[in-house]
Amino acid sequence: MHCVTAEVIHQEVVHGGYRVLQLRAPDLVPHVQPGQFVHVRVPHMEAAVLRRPFSVYKADGDVLQILYKGVGKGTRTMTFLAPGDTLSLLGPLGHGFPTLQPGNDPILIAGGYGMAALYLLARQLPVKGVAFFGGRSAPDILCVPEFEALGWDVRIATEDGSLGTAGRVTVLMDDWWAARSHDAAHVEAYACGPNGMLQAVAARAQQHDWTAWVSVDRNMGCGVGACLTCVLKTRTPEGDWVWQRSCTEGPVFDSRQIVWDAEGAS
Ligand SMILES: Cc1cc2nc3c(=O)[nH]c(=O)nc-3n(C[C@H](O)[C@H](O)[C@H](O)COP(=O)(O)OP(=O)(O)OC[C@H]3O[C@@H](n4cnc5c(N)ncnc54)[C@H](O)[C@@H]3O)c2cc1C
Ligand code: FES
Repeated sequence: MHCVTAEVIHQEVVHGGYRVLQLRAPDLVPHVQPGQFVHVRVPHMEAAVLRRPFSVYKADGDVLQILYKGVGKGTRTMTFLAPGDTLSLLGPLGHGFPTLQPGNDPILIAGGYGMAALYLLARQLPVKGVAFFGGRSAPDILCVPEFEALGWDVRIATEDGSLGTAGRVTVLMDDWWAARSHDAAHVEAYACGPNGMLQAVAARAQQHDWTAWVSVDRNMGCGVGACLTCVLKTRTPEGDWVWQRSCTEGPVFDSRQIVWDAEGAS
């Protein structure tokens, strides 16, 4: 883990209000694994001391990119960052996605910024499969040409039907599963998105006996395991449960480990 001062190279609006922020961070980039995140101290926000977590979207050479949307005080402040500005980055943090077991077929399931969080994994996986992208509306669907260029078969669902199939992303997954005769043991799913979506993926993984890795989104304070803001309940092999920290033991968990409740991950 490194704490570095990164320089803003470029920032642009890409789609649906999402922005790509390019940062020069030569000491951090070589260590990034798919699914890891950086903890950003937002400059010009002295009243708010907590850093904000962002998945690493791309990491090449000495340039790290995050793809984000202005949703609150910190991220809206970030929209004003301009080339030459600097900010403090802590990372790479957390346990990312494990690599595919030999012989398994990968599928990706993403909602919102999950499409960015899965990009490095999509690039690194030795086998490409189907990528299911879901959102409320067409502007919520990101990065499609990039995943297709990597060889992924991207299938889209929007709740309002403005792009792809009308409905939730799980409709696509269910159709795909019903149309093929899979060897269940060979499906390995990787998911990042809203908790409800992750829970729906976990339910299908349990039903069909897939392996499913889910990246959870918890509020974070320190990002390094000290404050316990980000804990979630996980099962033990003995049938009991323990708290685990999503910033250090996660954010990626085996979906069978998580104790899900009505709100998603508990
Ligand atoms: C691992 C991970 C990866 C992420 N990757 C991305 C990404 O790639 N792109 C993207 O757009 N978004 C991503 N997010 C979400 C992003 O971190 C949030 O959108 C961002 O923190 C919002 O900050 P804000 O100041 O704009 O919002 P605000 O709502 O104004 O503030 C959020 C801040 O308040 C803190 N907070 C809120 N509620 C509580 C609480 N109950 N207890 C303690 N602290 C609290 C949060 O920790 C955070 O620091 C990711 C989140 C996680 C956990
Ligand atoms: S954010 Fe502090 S322990 Fe995870």
